Amino acid sequence: MELKVSASHLMELENKYGAHNYHPLPVVLEKGEGVFVWDVEGKKYYDFLSAYSAVNQGHCHPKIINTLIQQAQKLTLTSRAFYNSNLGIYEEFITQYFGYEKILPMNTGAEAVETALKLCRKWGYEKKGLPENQAQIVVCEGNFHGRTTTIVSFSVDSDAYTNYGPFTPGFIKIPYNNVQALKEVLDENPNIAGFLVEPIQGEAGAYVPDEGYLKTCYDLCKARNVLFIADEVQTGIARTGKLLACDYEGIHPDILILGKALSGGAYPVSAVLSDAEIMNVIKPGQHGSTFGGNPLAAAIAVSALEVVNEEELAEKAYQLGIVFREELSGFCKTSKVAEYVRGKGLLNALVINNSSYKDLAWEICLKLKDNGLLAKPTHTNIIRFAPPLVITEVQLRECLEIIKTTIQNFE
Ligand SMILES: Cc1ncc(COP(=O)(O)O)c(C=O)c1O
Repeated sequence: MELKVSASHLMELENKYGAHNYHPLPVVLEKGEGVFVWDVEGKKYYDFLSAYSAVNQGHCHPKIINTLIQQAQKLTLTSRAFYNSNLGIYEEFITQYFGYEKILPMNTGAEAVETALKLCRKWGYEKKGLPENQAQIVVCEGNFHGRTTTIVSFSVDSDAYTNYGPFTPGFIKIPYNNVQALKEVLDENPNIAGFLVEPIQGEAGAYVPDEGYLKTCYDLCKARNVLFIADEVQTGIARTGKLLACDYEGIHPDILILGKALSGGAYPVSAVLSDAEIMNVIKPGQHGSTFGGNPLAAAIAVSALEVVNEEELAEKAYQLGIVFREELSGFCKTSKVAEYVRGKGLLNALVINNSSYKDLAWEICLKLKDNGLLAKPTHTNIIRFAPPLVITEVQLRECLEIIKTTIQNFE
């Protein structure tokens, strides 16, 4: 007989031996398939977090897992000291897929953001002619781009930066969704190399900027020879109802940052894409990563991107997102607890009125868990809902019922 370790013991182990850098819901997962995950007691849940949008293609997608198994039995890592039989094929595939000339492969989202920042600065000095060590990059308040020392240097979230200084200079923070602020900063400062922006601020709680914001910012950047850098680590790869969230405004970022769903959650894979004019400023020895571009990652990423097209995940996310927001906005009109819903495609957030009880969103998530749906609050009173994009309309409607009846119990 298989000896099962209890959920409480497994949680105790994490608490005792792991750093306390997360505050997980009390559920211990051991299996996933499509939109579902199962805990160690065999209880089944709808996953409405999708590992922060890494599992857009659904848990353990058979095609992606098959690629992983096949490739893992053949060759996993060569380092970039040598060529490998998958990297070039992947590079051709992904650049054509997103319409760029070049890719620089990395592993995590934060690494890809770091890569984009370095690329932007180097371009600023070597192509734009900025004076040595004077390059500035404009970023937005409310941003989330990862956890490295440089990235937290321009965070406005005190949890993210407190006591991690001294910080990396060279970043100017402006309010998000404010074209005038970008215009002013570009007018005032001749040393700006780039503007780094999330097309929708995911961690901030699926904060969607006004229509036209991105396009106007893009045009302002173009007019001043400033690189427009889109961090689509969370919004990209069909999550928001288009292949990229930038597609809503028909803009093609100078530098595109991808991660998460680039592997469908099977492996850490991230990428920076740009045209050769920009990417070629980085020469051998000037940037890299032992694992970046490894044959296993390359094979997985091709499969993960193929699934997005084969299963028309962007179109699905677009349609189902409309259903989701229509249903929940109707519900919000009748609810004292649920204030409003916002988002695009299947990246949505419900804002909870927590004026009478600060941790209400957390309590709601605990009850959602009991009722078979996993979601997590962000910024105390916002619940992000981001299921795998393979969810069907019938399943989505079932989940909407779970969400509504759960919240009704808090009215
Ligand atoms: C927009 C954005 N950029 C970067 C990151 C960092 O990615 P990673 O956690 O893989 O380093 C995230 C993670 O949530 C993100 O949402």
